[in-house]
Amino acid sequence: MSDTVAGGIQGANAGGLVASIRARIDAGALSAGDALPSIRTLATELGLNRNTVAAAYAQLAAAGIVETRRRGGTIVLGVPNLDGEGQASEGGVVNLSSGNPDPAFLPRMAGVLDAGYSPPLYGTAPVSEELQRWAAQHMTPDVAGPHRLVLTHGSVDAVDRLLGAYLTRGDTVAVEDPCFLSSIGALRLGGFQSAPVAVDEEGMTVEGLRAALAAGARALVCTPRAHNPTGASLSPARVAALREVLAGYPGVLVVEDDHFSAVSSRPYLRVTPPDAHRWALVRSVSKFLGPDLRVAFVLADPDTATRLESRLSSATTWVSHILQHLVARLLADPHTHALLDRARASYAGRSGLLVAELTGRGLPMQRHTDGLNVWVPLPGRPRQVVNDLAKRGWAVRPGENFAVGDRPPPAIRVTTATLSPQQATAFAADLAAVLQMA
Ligand SMILES: Cc1ncc(COP(=O)(O)O)c(C=O)c1O
Repeated sequence: MSDTVAGGIQGANAGGLVASIRARIDAGALSAGDALPSIRTLATELGLNRNTVAAAYAQLAAAGIVETRRRGGTIVLGVPNLDGEGQASEGGVVNLSSGNPDPAFLPRMAGVLDAGYSPPLYGTAPVSEELQRWAAQHMTPDVAGPHRLVLTHGSVDAVDRLLGAYLTRGDTVAVEDPCFLSSIGALRLGGFQSAPVAVDEEGMTVEGLRAALAAGARALVCTPRAHNPTGASLSPARVAALREVLAGYPGVLVVEDDHFSAVSSRPYLRVTPPDAHRWALVRSVSKFLGPDLRVAFVLADPDTATRLESRLSSATTWVSHILQHLVARLLADPHTHALLDRARASYAGRSGLLVAELTGRGLPMQRHTDGLNVWVPLPGRPRQVVNDLAKRGWAVRPGENFAVGDRPPPAIRVTTATLSPQQATAFAADLAAVLQMA
C-alpha cells in the first residue's frame, strides 16, 4: 500500500477503514477540511471492493465526521462556523443588521429580584408555580388537547432539544427558506438535512410544505408570525391549508417558534393540526423581556414534554429559578405591559415607515410585515448592494445569509427596531441611489 495515496488509511473491511480514518483524525494526521482519497483510489490502493469503501465513508458521514460534497469529494468536518443575530458594524455606520430589539423597550431589571425569592435546592419542581399559572392563563387557550409546560433556555435551546429528542443525524427537517440563522445553526450542528419551504407574504407556502413532507421530513420548525427575516405572518387561509397538509402526517413533530408573541401586531394562528401526536408551541421572552433572560415557555403534548424534560434534566436540570422569578415579577407588573404596548406600536410603526418609503420608491415590498426586520427584494447583486450601502453609512445583511436552499432570491434584511423616521427616509433615498432607481 502506498502511504501517499491512501494517506496511511488501512483496513480490510468497512469497520476497519472507519477505525483507521478516525485514528488518523485523532492523531492529527487528518484535520478539518482535508479530503479523503476518492472511493475508487482507496479501493484500488487497498485491494478492496468499492462498496466497502463507500460503506465506510457513509458510516463516517452519518456520524458527522466527514461530509460528502457533490464535486469536492469527501471532506473531514470541523466545528461548523455558525452565524447568529447581533452582528456588529463598523464605527460611524448605522447598524441595521443586528436583529436586536430596541433596548428602550426592555424592562429594567434593577430591584426586580425581591424578597419573594428563596434559593431552591436539588429536587425542586423545574417550573415555578407562578409561571405555571401564567402559562395556563396566557398560553393554554392557544393550544388544543392534553399538554404540559416545560421551560428552556430560549427558543433555540427548545428547538435544538426537541429535534434531538426525536430525530437522529441525517434525518430531514422542514424549515422556512429563508430561515432564522440560529435554527439553521441548530440543524447543522445536529447533522440534520433541511428541506427548504419557500415563504411568501402569507408565510410558509403550502406547496413547499407538501414537498418537504413528501421528501420525508420528520419534523417541521415554523414561525407563525413575524417570520425572521421576511416579516411575514400566516394568514387564516394559509394556516387552514397548511394544517390540512400536516394532518396527513400526524407523526411529524411540529415546532411552532412564536418568537415575537407579546410584541407582535398579528394574532397567533395555530399551524399544528388537532391530531398531531408530537407538537410544541415555543414562546421565548427574548424579544419582549430581553435576550439575556434565556427563558422560553414550551407547551407540548405530554410525551414530547417528557422527552424535552429528560433532555434538560441530563444537562442543565432546570432553568434557574432566579430567572423564573424575574420573568414572573416582570410579567405581573403593569409597567411591563405598558412598555410592551409601546414596543408593539413602535415596532409596527418603524417597519411600516420603511415599507412605505421603499414602496414609494417603486420597490416590490410586501404589504404586511411584522417583527424587527424588513425584507427588501432586489433586482440582483445583493452583496454589491450591501457593500454600496456600507459606503453610505448603513449596515444591512444580505438575504443569502438566511438561505436554506441553493438559489436564494436576491434581497437584503434591514433591522428596523430602532429606525427613526429621518433614518427611514435617508435609507430609502440611499438604497434607491445604490440601485440607480429614478
Ligand atoms: C425566529 C426566531 N426565533 C427565536 C428567536 C430568539 O431565540 P432565543 O429565544 O433563543 O433568544 C429569534 C431572535 O431573533 C428569532 O428570530
